[in-house]
Amino acid sequence: MSSRRARILVFDSGTGGLSVAHALRAQLPDADIIYAADTAGFPYGKWAEVLLVRRILRVMRDLLDLVRPDCVVIGCNTASTLALDVLREEFRVPFVGTVPAIKPAAAQTKTGVIGVLATPGTARREYTKTLIHTYAFHCRVMLHGAPRLAEIAETKLAGAKIDREELLAEIKPVFRRKGGARADVVVLGCTHYPLLLEEMKEVAPWPVTWIDPAPAIARRTASILNEGDKADSGPLGITRNTVILTSQPPVGHQLPAGFAGAGFDKLHIADIPL
Ligand code: DGL
Repeated sequence: MSSRRARILVFDSGTGGLSVAHALRAQLPDADIIYAADTAGFPYGKWAEVLLVRRILRVMRDLLDLVRPDCVVIGCNTASTLALDVLREEFRVPFVGTVPAIKPAAAQTKTGVIGVLATPGTARREYTKTLIHTYAFHCRVMLHGAPRLAEIAETKLAGAKIDREELLAEIKPVFRRKGGARADVVVLGCTHYPLLLEEMKEVAPWPVTWIDPAPAIARRTASILNEGDKADSGPLGITRNTVILTSQPPVGHQLPAGFAGAGFDKLHIADIPL
């Protein structure tokens, strides 16, 4: 067993996993966090399932060779609801997934109506439907696959202005009345969405409780790291606070805006084209 710091790989298609990385830093301040974004494959919400599983496995194989983490946090609902089982079968490292927080939403609603905002991929998944049937069978659930919400979050992180009307159009389908009642809880079923929380609160037709699963994911990661011994590993090329992208960033060889504010300061390009 080694006494070195735990090394966590956070994985997403883009910057959405930063909402999870933030919670991990709060929960595990001493851990080394390395962030990988499959920017070549973004957005995952639009992929066909079979192709996306293949893509995730391919990218993960390269990332594990590069990073050799003690634990991988899939900071992406679209990937987790599809590929978590396959990843666990294929690789030995422990995986923590991010899935829509339907169970806590069903426990918190007072009106009995909950909204679930997710990518089109996550909204279509059997996994998501099973969560609803298992935990929210007594609720009315407005599940919406928002076509552009993750991209709007990327726009914000890149420093550009957000179109408020477009934002409202993306979230409005969960703000409908059902049987005289309206949603009082909205699940943020994509890790990009907490990055837009302030703007969504401003344009939302009425106030709701927004549920971000990130703190629960961070607690789960901490307990997994406590359970497992950290295997000694050889020399490591990738050090803490590195961001790995699978394609060249838009501006030269620079760390895209948004990562620096989250404590990441190094960039590594692992070109993994489609
Ligand atoms: N951040 C991702 C999620 O939690 C996916 C966004 C995308 O690539 O479409 O679902």
